[in-house]
Amino acid sequence: MRTIEEQGYRFEEWLTPSDIAADVQQVAERISADYKDKEPLFVVVLNGAFVFAADLVRALKDVRCEITFIRVSSYWGMSSTGKLEFIVPLQQVVENRDVIIVEDIVDTGLTIHQLKAHMRAQGALSTRVATMLFKPNKLEYEDAKPDYVGRELTDEFVVGYGLDFDGFVRNLDAIYKVKQ
Ligand code: PRP
Repeated sequence: MRTIEEQGYRFEEWLTPSDIAADVQQVAERISADYKDKEPLFVVVLNGAFVFAADLVRALKDVRCEITFIRVSSYWGMSSTGKLEFIVPLQQVVENRDVIIVEDIVDTGLTIHQLKAHMRAQGALSTRVATMLFKPNKLEYEDAKPDYVGRELTDEFVVGYGLDFDGFVRNLDAIYKVKQ
């Protein structure tokens, strides 16, 4: 089993590149079946989701689609109607589009909760969520439950395959769990 060290922490390989490929394939097959006759717009949430998104969209079968990117602030105000801050704003019109938000990980669900409300307000026809990783035990927003999940985990800290530790190690080809 491969291990890495980052900023004094040890991490062990949890999902190998071939484990990840199988998970991506499973998600891609489900999306391909569901969107065969649609033209979805993939909205990739930067930065973490870029690796998963690149693999996912290339694994789709016969899905005519568009791909765009956003980056939002994880800052959350005092009320649940707090404004979503776009650091990289949505470049594409989502009105009347079938949107698929792509994430690397859904944790509390706050980001997805906010983004879904935004898509709805902008007139999206439908909004679903595809994520490589999902922490069901941490979910605080029921409407943020992802539709397509590569792999579930509990509350471990994971890095690699897009997921960072203070901005680093996103480029690892596997997903590593911190060693307790
Ligand atoms: C991570 C992840 C999701 C969000 C999930 O992004 O990519 O967008 O947190 O957490 P939540 O479900 O509790 O909202 P982060 O803010 O770390 O930015 P990054 O993608 O640039 O690493």
